[in-house]
Amino acid sequence: MRPTLGADYAQISVAPERAMNILNSPTDVDPRLPELEATLKKGLLPLWIYNDSEIFRQEMERVFAKKWIFMAHETEIPKSGDFVARTIGVDPFIVVRGNDGVVRVLFDSCRHKGARVCRADKGNARSFVCPYHGWTYDTAGKLSGIPLKDAGYKTLNQAEWGLMAAPRVGVYRGLIFATLDSAAPSLDDFLGDIKWYLDLHLCLSPQGMEVVGEPHRWNIDADWKSGSDNFAGDAYHTQSLHRSVVRIGVVAPEVSGAAGRKLNNNNVHITECSGHTTNFRCTDPGNVFFWGYPETVQKHFTCEQLVPAQKDIAQRSMVHTGTVFPNLSFLHLSVTSTPGEPVAPFLSLRQWNPIGPGKMEARSWVLVPKEASPEYKSLAYKTAVATFSPSGSFEQDDSTAWAGISRAAGSMFARSSGQLLNFQMGLPGMSEANVMQTWPGPGIAYDTNLEEGVQRTFYRHWLTTLLDKGQKETSGELVAK
Ligand code: FES
Ligand SMILES: [Fe+2]
Repeated sequence: MRPTLGADYAQISVAPERAMNILNSPTDVDPRLPELEATLKKGLLPLWIYNDSEIFRQEMERVFAKKWIFMAHETEIPKSGDFVARTIGVDPFIVVRGNDGVVRVLFDSCRHKGARVCRADKGNARSFVCPYHGWTYDTAGKLSGIPLKDAGYKTLNQAEWGLMAAPRVGVYRGLIFATLDSAAPSLDDFLGDIKWYLDLHLCLSPQGMEVVGEPHRWNIDADWKSGSDNFAGDAYHTQSLHRSVVRIGVVAPEVSGAAGRKLNNNNVHITECSGHTTNFRCTDPGNVFFWGYPETVQKHFTCEQLVPAQKDIAQRSMVHTGTVFPNLSFLHLSVTSTPGEPVAPFLSLRQWNPIGPGKMEARSWVLVPKEASPEYKSLAYKTAVATFSPSGSFEQDDSTAWAGISRAAGSMFARSSGQLLNFQMGLPGMSEANVMQTWPGPGIAYDTNLEEGVQRTFYRHWLTTLLDKGQKETSGELVAK
């Protein structure tokens, strides 16, 4: 039974007494931050933000404890009792589908003395038994058993001692999010304009996308912002960092793209998308490419839930990336695991989970249309492992560069020298980046991938969130075009 998650968008609440009432009194804003607003207006940011214990602490408090954070995809937990272990910031949670079909996000800490009650990454459970003294919780988080209760906890009211839960959980087209802030705007409002672009990937076929294979997770000695920044729209790095991958033919040059080629307005950067960003590269109007999916998969792309403008972009698409603030990125592209072999496109969701200043745990999921054959799903997964996974060719390139940023950012010299980093591409005089006035979708569209407004959007949202300024002040590119 899955009554709550059948809709495209569902808001799920937990009982108020179980909602966590946190962070009503956040600590003071880091005094170094306000001046960064003026710095960022010039397209500059200091290096130290990528490895700083105080910034990390404030990010946990103001970003990860306040925003909607991606937890899992519905198809990872289709049956009652299915669960996956996930984090919000560094906090451990269990995402579990209860016997009532409702997905809950339970805090993985026993109400007795606080021990973890879930020691597996994923599985199917009828209950969670704490290893310390044996308190047992059902899949809705209710305390269902206490060893020696009649002798040791005679008057304890079990109904009051269930696992704590994230106060709000929401689902958008299969993507499960949670927030620790009971006063946060709705998930619908939080996602805002990025939904128009997410739908291009999630609504291709009637049954939507599903996760195939096991998600990967691995540690990178790099800051979570490096991943979010890169996937927000750093097309500029492909010609350098991934040059070898393009040369050996894992990805076609026209798909990987060279930053700066105008390609008849087919390279598009979308900034100011409710604090989120995306970018993509298309073939010319009239072509039907759909990321290069084979006909056996494309035949399922009815695009019934897309408006004509969305369908037009989807069918001309070669590659998309994007970042849903703060740390969920996506990548939909046309690559092969073996040069010379046909491509096997897939959608990758990737999450950059902070685990400490300048360190993260990355996660990635591979998704393909549910209607695809088992053979195609297997090929797509293999292709993703060869390209965007801990052992993947692209991934290793990226991790190496990002780790260098974190190492330098943690240095004394980064602070004493005040080294600034450059995000000025697309600002007046730097590159020819023009607003596409007739663009049919939300956000501000630029007609080139040789611009960094997408990254500036990400950092402006990061900064205004740390400064506690609210959503309204995050909008509005700072430079008139
Ligand atoms: S800490 Fe869990 S039963 Fe004691
Ligand atoms: Fe990359």
